[in-house]
Amino acid sequence: MALHRPLLAGVLGLCAVLATPVSATAAPASPHAGGSSHHADSLRSLAAPIGLRIGTAVNTDQLASNATYRNITASQFSTVTPENVMKWEVVEPTRGTYDWAAADRLVAFAQANHQLVRGHTLVWHSQLPSWLTAAAPQMSPDELRAILRQHVIDQVTHFKGQIWQWDVVNEAFNDDGTLRDSIWLQKLGPGYIADAFRWAHQADPKAKLFYNDYNIEYTGPKSNAVYALVKSLKAQGVPIDGVGFQTHLDTQYPLPDLQSNLQRFADLRLDVAETEVDVRTTLPVTATEQSAQVAGYTQTLQACMAVKRCISYTVWGFDDGNSWVPGVFAGEGAATVYDEKFQPKAQYYALQQALELGKGAPHRTGIGAGRG
Ligand code: G3I
Repeated sequence: MALHRPLLAGVLGLCAVLATPVSATAAPASPHAGGSSHHADSLRSLAAPIGLRIGTAVNTDQLASNATYRNITASQFSTVTPENVMKWEVVEPTRGTYDWAAADRLVAFAQANHQLVRGHTLVWHSQLPSWLTAAAPQMSPDELRAILRQHVIDQVTHFKGQIWQWDVVNEAFNDDGTLRDSIWLQKLGPGYIADAFRWAHQADPKAKLFYNDYNIEYTGPKSNAVYALVKSLKAQGVPIDGVGFQTHLDTQYPLPDLQSNLQRFADLRLDVAETEVDVRTTLPVTATEQSAQVAGYTQTLQACMAVKRCISYTVWGFDDGNSWVPGVFAGEGAATVYDEKFQPKAQYYALQQALELGKGAPHRTGIGAGRG
């Protein structure tokens, strides 16, 4: 019986939360401030006692136009990640002309709702502006390096003091553990990774700087390669603070050995985070598939809670209507914790229950700035 109590309380709590408009007048919080007056059964409130931040990727078009989306974003989560609006193609669509407007609005929303921001992402092979992808092949390494340096420094400087964790380098490896053949590797060599961390640190010494990737939840060639990279960066004194495990799961594959994998990175004196969690399946969803999705959410959150240096757990969007999955994996979806009508699914209650039952998990100490 005890297991059902938080679930019922969760339903009631959610109703209350949805009826409450987001306060537009709440005092802004510093990036490292905690605390809120959210309903006791919200994900963010349930995670607060152990110092864990629960986050979501945010679709800023929805945030601007949909009050239900806005209320859930504010009430359930204590960190936000821009799903797209801090990517290079959005912030510098024309060379030398920045457009920070959408990202600035999200940062202001986060501050008004006492949320921290994960900055995503500074150096990636995808979603680059077309002026850059067109010109890069003809550029000299020095010219391209100067452009990358300027981008990292300008973006981190613009948001200085407002970003908790930056995904400095995203998805630099192939699944076999070799470095991805991106324009960065081709022109600049593997040293671009350490350079990016040094530039970001120069621009905002207090931001936590992360390497972020997918398919590193499983121990194997890719996760081993990332492990070797970050170990070597630490040994060289490169300012890296953490590793983000994206955690895009699919019910057709076994669950990863995530806890032991998170722990071995944490043992390098790095913070770790699950940064883009979702669990997709084939449509229409069967009861068996949904129970596998529930297990995926439960196990990934429990793995984070069990590792003291796992400081945040972020879902890659919270509602099926705005998930990236159906657009990329034909015939798959239902990957998030709310349905298209913004009703919480069993996956939502699984997160709530894992938090409720895990109150004895170690308290995280990595919320503030600082390395080591
Ligand atoms: O903004 C344009 C719009 O102007 C245009 O009309 C429309 C037509 O297709 O496209 C819009 O851009 C789309 C963009 O999302 C913003 O909605 C792109 O086509 C679409 O490809 C892009 O997808 C994003 C994807 O990254 C790009 O690689 C997804 O929303 C986003 O969820 C996804 O996020 C990534 C993380 O950054 C890194 N890890 C994997 C994760 C999932 O792929």
